[in-house]
Amino acid sequence: MTSTRSSTSTEIRWAEPGELPGLAAVEVAADGLFAQVGIAFPAGTTMIEETGDPSRVLVAGDPPIGFAMIGWVDGTVHLDQLAVHPGHGRRGVGGRLLEAVCDHAASAGSAAVTLTTFRDVPWNAPWYARHGFAVLDPAEWGPELAALVAHERDLGIDLAPRVVMRRSR
Ligand SMILES: CC(C)(COP(=O)(O)OP(=O)(O)OC[C@H]1O[C@@H](n2cnc3c(N)ncnc32)[C@H](O)[C@@H]1OP(=O)(O)O)[C@@H](O)C(=O)NCCC(=O)NCCS
Repeated sequence: MTSTRSSTSTEIRWAEPGELPGLAAVEVAADGLFAQVGIAFPAGTTMIEETGDPSRVLVAGDPPIGFAMIGWVDGTVHLDQLAVHPGHGRRGVGGRLLEAVCDHAASAGSAAVTLTTFRDVPWNAPWYARHGFAVLDPAEWGPELAALVAHERDLGIDLAPRVVMRRSR
């Protein structure tokens, strides 16, 4: 039964094209975690629906219980979204997806991985910090990163203080 699988038996792999639509439900369920810290996203802001490219998406499990969506920003691999269905949360799946993203970045020749996240939400910046990420000062943002932060603001995602983080590989 999927819900009792340990994280070690949850395979991390690239998404199949037909799996992308189903990942929106995983992202919406994961976003529900933010309600406990008073953050509710505007409707229609799921990231996974922005891509039809499975080569940008790593998934955990079959059917997927979590995913990481990546892209390139200023010549660096950027984590656009990371989500684990809360029914399978806190078993290490998110951490393993994050390590898979960093492994991919290394093999793809990226010097680092960047991301944007909430500064004070326990499973955001503090969690990434435990995985080796550090806050990147605005002076160190490249033009695409700065545009991405502005875009998030336009979408209304900056509902609480946000930070850019980076981990060198
Ligand atoms: C962030 C996320 C992907 C982590 O997935 P996961 O599979 O639970 O991750 P792990 O099991 O590797 O790590 C869980 C750790 O996150 C933190 N965490 C998770 N849920 C938490 C909660 N409700 N309250 C406090 N800390 C929490 C804890 O440090 C936890 O470790 P612990 O269980 O030992 O205390 C998942 O919580 C999620 O999808 N969140 C919503 C979407 C999101 O915030 N994505 C990242 C945005 S940039």
